[in-house]
Amino acid sequence: MSATVTFGKDLTGLEQLSAEQIKTILDVAEPFKEISERPIKKVPVLRGKTIVNLFYEPSTRTRVSFEFAEKRLSADTVNISATGSSVVKGENLVDTARNLEAMRIDMVVMRHGSSGAAQFLADRIPSNVINAGDGQHEHPTQALLDMLTIRDHRERIAGRKVCIVGDILHSRVARSNIYGLLKLGAEVAVCGPRTLIPHGIEDLGVQVFKRIEEAIEWADVLNVLRLQLERMKAGYIPSLREYNRFFGISMARLERAPHDILILHPGPMNRGVEIDSHVADGPHSVILQQVTNGVAVRMAVLYLLAGGQPERAELAKRERGS
Ligand code: CP
Repeated sequence: MSATVTFGKDLTGLEQLSAEQIKTILDVAEPFKEISERPIKKVPVLRGKTIVNLFYEPSTRTRVSFEFAEKRLSADTVNISATGSSVVKGENLVDTARNLEAMRIDMVVMRHGSSGAAQFLADRIPSNVINAGDGQHEHPTQALLDMLTIRDHRERIAGRKVCIVGDILHSRVARSNIYGLLKLGAEVAVCGPRTLIPHGIEDLGVQVFKRIEEAIEWADVLNVLRLQLERMKAGYIPSLREYNRFFGISMARLERAPHDILILHPGPMNRGVEIDSHVADGPHSVILQQVTNGVAVRMAVLYLLAGGQPERAELAKRERGS
């Protein structure tokens, strides 16, 4: 781990990070994994820091995972959802954040439905801003936990063939994975109906497979995405049944693969649509390990943005929380 790698105030996406910064976050997550396995899951790394989790869109995994990460690092946390706040009375994002800052917060973790919202906020408030998913733009901590999980099971990212399957068009997870994986030297492909593959995606350096059988033959790892029906304004697919028939990941399809394939899914899953239950719960799946790794990755991000030194992460985990 390099002692010279530094981080800025915010984490709004992986597009802006270097390969060294991404590797450092993954390396710092390693010692933090063990804290969640202890009977007393707490170290005093962020004692005295106040973190607001500001969620304008629904979330289970990301919101709870950030909250666990913050609490396990001994930060004080407050959760705000748009529906239970003055946002419903018309308060805008910056006013909400400035009012929170008037109460002397240190960090904001934000999920928002608009692409670019995290950077917009980061440019306007002095607190650290961490993007927990903004519109169709980026979901950096999801991609980081995906990469940590691939590394756990396949030793390294460089040279691995990762195919992202499904609704690429609406996916912030796909975008963050593409940036992160390419920076770490993976080969990246996408596969899905033509209507759900963004025009010109090849320019990012990814291959496009039209047929799932070709993708399965090529890939070491499939990252299977949910069809984001709530973001689809037009009829992108004829029916869910047809989507499952042509692109659904089934055991029968995986059994025809020339080598062992790792199956990731960021959740929430539509079982029987993009992934069959036998795959989701079967031997290829590391979906719940992704969720476990999410806490460690988010602890690493919080630690580094708060000014923690990468080379001191191992020491930090040995400190005892109260
Ligand atoms: N993967 C993910 O972002 O899940 P949530 O929407 O539940 O946070």
